[in-house]
Amino acid sequence: MKNIFKIFGFVGLGLIITSGIQAQDWNITSEQKATQLQIPFTGTNQEAGEILYNKNCKMCHSTIKVVPKNDRVLPIAPNLGCQVIQSTNTDGELFWKITNGKGGMPPYANSLSDDERWKLVVFLRMYFNSYAAPTIGGVAPEAPGQKFQGTIKSMKLSFDDKTNKISAKLTAVDAEGNPTIPKNIKVKIYVKRYFGNLLLGTVKTNDAGVSSVECPKDIPADTGGYIFISATTADSSATAIEQVKFGQKLVWDNPNNHPSLWGTSKRSPLWLKASYISMVLAAWAVIFWAFFQLYKIRSIKEN
Ligand code: HEC
Repeated sequence: MKNIFKIFGFVGLGLIITSGIQAQDWNITSEQKATQLQIPFTGTNQEAGEILYNKNCKMCHSTIKVVPKNDRVLPIAPNLGCQVIQSTNTDGELFWKITNGKGGMPPYANSLSDDERWKLVVFLRMYFNSYAAPTIGGVAPEAPGQKFQGTIKSMKLSFDDKTNKISAKLTAVDAEGNPTIPKNIKVKIYVKRYFGNLLLGTVKTNDAGVSSVECPKDIPADTGGYIFISATTADSSATAIEQVKFGQKLVWDNPNNHPSLWGTSKRSPLWLKASYISMVLAAWAVIFWAFFQLYKIRSIKEN
């Protein structure tokens, strides 16, 4: 009988504790809820937020996809591109949820600064289709660079010798596999050098899916007058390399063709040969002299 009471006691206690966890809240005051975005909704802040997201949040929240309803069930972290989550949270709520955490969601009050947490809010809002970004400190919001949702298929490099422009053209398909134009994709364009690559620029693709950058005329080419250009998307999903005739052709100056110390003896001037030979002779003379002295010491001892 006593045992039954004990069991009931434990079960009851367990229920009380777990319901306490269930009822746990985000602890956000109405004042915090009403807080507006504190930093401007600009491309720079969107990008900074993306870097922070990839480092701190992506391992749980995964890739953000714009979906009407959350497609991931607890304890899996919700898809923050879910339009229900986006529309039911104010900017302040998102900020304080990131700050306080709850359940499986860790608090970031100490590990990320206020500024960093607002940058994350800016980044998350890029996925809210009906977001009306406020003007902050006189800085007008920039249109969210809607994240490209498809898959990049290929990249082709070309060079225009009239404008000296290197262009990388991307092709892609959307989620249904239909061809689509990959706009707003960051592409890094390089020129190959002896050691490593020279970054000419990081340029986003335009409305035609092309990213281009001008190549300086005085770039050193190889002895054939060629340079190697290469490009890669920021996430390395596509790369390309191409050889083009451009730049300052390298003329290799063979030292054997002029009178010089390391040239063939045929071309070295007489004074250089004479001083070299006399230096060698002098060195040998010192060595012989030293041996001769040693020999003298030995003969003194023998006598
Ligand atoms: C350890 C895994 C984990 C990490 C890391 C994490 N989260 Fe979460 N997050 C969760 C879980 C789980 C929830 C759901 C919590 C709940 O509703 O009980 C959540 C909820 C949220 C919500 C609230 C969504 C809603 O329903 O209103 C936001 C906003 C959020 N996370 C943003 C972030 C951001 C930004 C970061 C990075 C700084 C981050 N999270 C890092 C697990 C994580």
